[in-house]
Amino acid sequence: MSSTPQTLPADATEAGAPPASTAPRLFDTPDWLYLLRDFDALYRHGSAGGSRLIRAHRKRVRDALSQLIDANPAMEFRQPAPKPVTAHLPRALDLGARGAVDALARSLGRVAPALTWEYGYDKVPRALAQKYAYCEVAGPRGPVRTERLVLGFVLLAPRTTYPQHSHAEIEESYISIAGAWSENDTAVHAPGSLILNRPAHEHRITTADLDPCLLAYAWIGPEARLNAPGMKLSTSRRSRMAQGI
Ligand SMILES: [Fe+2]
Repeated sequence: MSSTPQTLPADATEAGAPPASTAPRLFDTPDWLYLLRDFDALYRHGSAGGSRLIRAHRKRVRDALSQLIDANPAMEFRQPAPKPVTAHLPRALDLGARGAVDALARSLGRVAPALTWEYGYDKVPRALAQKYAYCEVAGPRGPVRTERLVLGFVLLAPRTTYPQHSHAEIEESYISIAGAWSENDTAVHAPGSLILNRPAHEHRITTADLDPCLLAYAWIGPEARLNAPGMKLSTSRRSRMAQGI
């Protein structure tokens, strides 16, 4: 009977090789690097439509993003997690790949199996849980680690109302990737459109009848707030007042 172990311990390495637990960095994960570069291109080359506020927001996002890419941060992968609405993701990506933001739709598709989809609210209405989820691609919780901004995607099923909400201290922009949608009943946004929600601005989103809606978003704000955004759907009274009903 031999005392030789049949398998090596998991952390066994050749002399001089990095330990198996070394976290990959951004440049070790090309799909994530290209995704961030495509995000950067949106905020670098798109138009501000003549708005000084939107121009300043776009600059804040791309400054933080280009510093992030240059820093080659460590990657921090979480457990991939689908949600019911992610059954609509292939259709959203197909639409996105035919639209004005095709590069980002394709690069998101490359990392789709690794995405952690979540709700962000302690209590999410049951109907919304079937039709909405978001995933972060950069931020305090990774996968691309940064304290300075959050980048992610929101996915909404057809015929969905994402109820009234706001973000304390956080400046948020959405860029349409796929689908038609409206915010506060004020306009219909098509792929390529950008909308800026300033801190505390109440907003409610509705989506079109037939296709899902995929939005890229960027958050800029104080580090402590980006770490703990404390997302809450607005109270019904406040929500009704904001909607004028
Ligand atoms: Fe929002």
